[in-house]
Amino acid sequence: MKKVWIDTDPGVDDTFAIAMLFEAKDKVEVIGVSTIFGNVDVAQTTRNARILMEAAGKTDLPVARGASYPLVVPLDTSPFVHGANGMGDMPLPEPHMPEFALRAPQAIIDVILANPHEITLLPIGPLTNIAMAYLMEPKIAELVKEVVIMGGAVRCPGNITPAAEANFFHDPHAAQIVMSAGWPVVLAGLDVCSFGMVPQALLDKVCRADKALAPYIAGALPFFQDFLKTFGVYDRVDFPDALAAAYLLEPGIFTLEELPLFIEVEGSCMGQSLPVPTGKWYEDLKANRHYKADDAIAPAKVLFKVDTSAFLNLIEKLLA
Ligand code: BDR
Ligand code: CA
Repeated sequence: MKKVWIDTDPGVDDTFAIAMLFEAKDKVEVIGVSTIFGNVDVAQTTRNARILMEAAGKTDLPVARGASYPLVVPLDTSPFVHGANGMGDMPLPEPHMPEFALRAPQAIIDVILANPHEITLLPIGPLTNIAMAYLMEPKIAELVKEVVIMGGAVRCPGNITPAAEANFFHDPHAAQIVMSAGWPVVLAGLDVCSFGMVPQALLDKVCRADKALAPYIAGALPFFQDFLKTFGVYDRVDFPDALAAAYLLEPGIFTLEELPLFIEVEGSCMGQSLPVPTGKWYEDLKANRHYKADDAIAPAKVLFKVDTSAFLNLIEKLLA
């Protein structure tokens, strides 16, 4: 049984991923949730997380509010993808469960220290909280089990700029810190997403299913689909965060490669996740030149493919 802490910005695909993990009771124990700005601001993502916990009957779980702003760059959100309320502008109830007393970075530190080598972190939003937790208590890098991240676009274009995926773009400095912290990182980025498109027929079943979070998936989906239609995608949907969740449940259905990566923090390619095959900017045999970037190049396991029918079967089993 994996003990999982989810750091999230719900979010249509975040909702889908959370629903999958709650339904996979035999494989995963979700032990807490923290929130982050990203799709919308953190006040709204925290509200949404509390609404989802209530709907799922998980009011015993901590919902720890995270960072309101990125480390360096200005706040930027994506209401045009997820709606002004982050849930496709569906009508939302007022949540009643309280927020956790601690802020996200401290809650994450505490849970890792209390469960050495047992916690899998699942960040599916910008990485600010995870970077802050590491900066406040670097020991967590040795004590966490694994960090499975939805972020990056290694051998494919970005989705928010030609170079960058949205979670890395929204806080590139945090992404660079987290990717080079020295803990075991698995990157479920955009590379694997095109193999995980969910067809309309399965979506219809998921939306109609008698499952706790189905009304939220169904309610948020039309806005997201309208956004996808502007790109000519009519009959299927990709849920990037769901691929990261699926990796926790069925790692064997993914094809991955370990690569040294550098995360760009400035300029037109801000947020780009760049493979550096030699692990060095430049091989200087006399070692009389030092590149600042070299210190930030670090290995990650990157998911490049998933067995599409196995992924869809997993969704069907959990959510339909
Ligand atoms: C990521 O950005 C957000 O829009 C999604 O929730 C996902 O985490 C995809 O780039
Ligand atoms: Ca997300």
